[in-house]
Amino acid sequence: MKVDDGDNSKTTFLPIVDYKDFLDKAKRQFEEDWKRKKNPPGLSIQDFDIQRTLGTGSFGRVVLALCTKNNSYYAMKILDKGSIIKAKQLDHTLNEKRILQALNFPFVVYMEFSLKDNSYLYFTMPFIAGGEMFTHLRRMGKFDEGCSRFYSAQVVLALEYLHYLDLVYRDLKPENILIDKFGYLKITDFGFCKIVKGRTWTLCGTPEYLAPEIIMSKGYSKSVDWWSFGVLLYEMCAGYPPFIATDPMKIYEKIIAGRYRFANFFSPELRDLIKNLLQVDITKRFGILKMGVDDIKDHKWFRGIQWLSLLNRKLDAPFIPKCKSSGDSSNFEHYEEVPLRISSTDQFAKEFAEF
Ligand SMILES: Nc1ncnc2c1ncn2[C@@H]1O[C@H](COP(=O)(O)OP(=O)(O)O)[C@@H](O)[C@H]1O
Ligand SMILES: [Mg+2]
Repeated sequence: MKVDDGDNSKTTFLPIVDYKDFLDKAKRQFEEDWKRKKNPPGLSIQDFDIQRTLGTGSFGRVVLALCTKNNSYYAMKILDKGSIIKAKQLDHTLNEKRILQALNFPFVVYMEFSLKDNSYLYFTMPFIAGGEMFTHLRRMGKFDEGCSRFYSAQVVLALEYLHYLDLVYRDLKPENILIDKFGYLKITDFGFCKIVKGRTWTLCGTPEYLAPEIIMSKGYSKSVDWWSFGVLLYEMCAGYPPFIATDPMKIYEKIIAGRYRFANFFSPELRDLIKNLLQVDITKRFGILKMGVDDIKDHKWFRGIQWLSLLNRKLDAPFIPKCKSSGDSSNFEHYEEVPLRISSTDQFAKEFAEF
């Protein structure tokens, strides 16, 4: 049965009864959608009323936009074609779009359609109204272990899904995790995500979340996401990440040495799980050993989590963000607004012909 997972129109196969079977289907679907160029939606940027900025990043911004044709709200990632070309990020951007359009998982965002005009590209996603995990974490100080367990279990499932598709995510952090209006998570930002069948070498990510093997310029694969997951788990429970310093070089030194301390209120089970994730030696790191993700799912800190119920969104969320209406963006921080400047001639038409 196909039912709406709660955020706009794309459907996920719910209820999921057999997880392995679900992953196999999801992989086939991803591979098909990745190849296919999504049909234009019969809309142009003139059909959208851009309301405000929700977040900014390295290559552009994400705005809340109301489609005046269907009266729906969307989050639009807007990228400037000129800046992409200047920074030699063309392939990278086309890659992000292809991945984003082909994803379909309850705890991951996806792109409904893309648009372009003379100056910009627009990735159009469902608007996830609860805001960034980052905002709530800073406001609350830290999450208790029950709340962290509910969130981190969804991240485990999302990483399991992405890795099953041969994707390495590479940018796990609280800024890239959104909370939906039901209190469940959606991972966003596939800017660093890549199909990796063997190993890759690119240095990318965020200093506090970088795995030692990335810093040491070793070839790496999925192990880096499980390291970042360890950092995220620590940060959710403590309110600050495990490796901190003002100078990034000092952060890297601590990471390579695996030098961090548990907060004194961490439970013994939590300490054990984090210790096995923040494991500098990748032959010992949980997530990529013989038992794969099961070492994490079966760990005693996750005891009591009903994984299939969680996947089917049947568990009660520990916290429901305040969302007064479908276009309520009050959970997002404020940013300086910069109006779009659309050129009168088509910029880089040839380079972006495929987009
Ligand atoms: N689908 C979405 N719904 C609501 N907000 C979003 C959505 N996608 C991204 N955002 C917001 O925009 C911010 C920047 O988007 P992101 O894709 O992370 O860009 P960057 O690659 O520049 O970091 C996110 O941290 C989040 O606050
Ligand atoms: Mg981001």
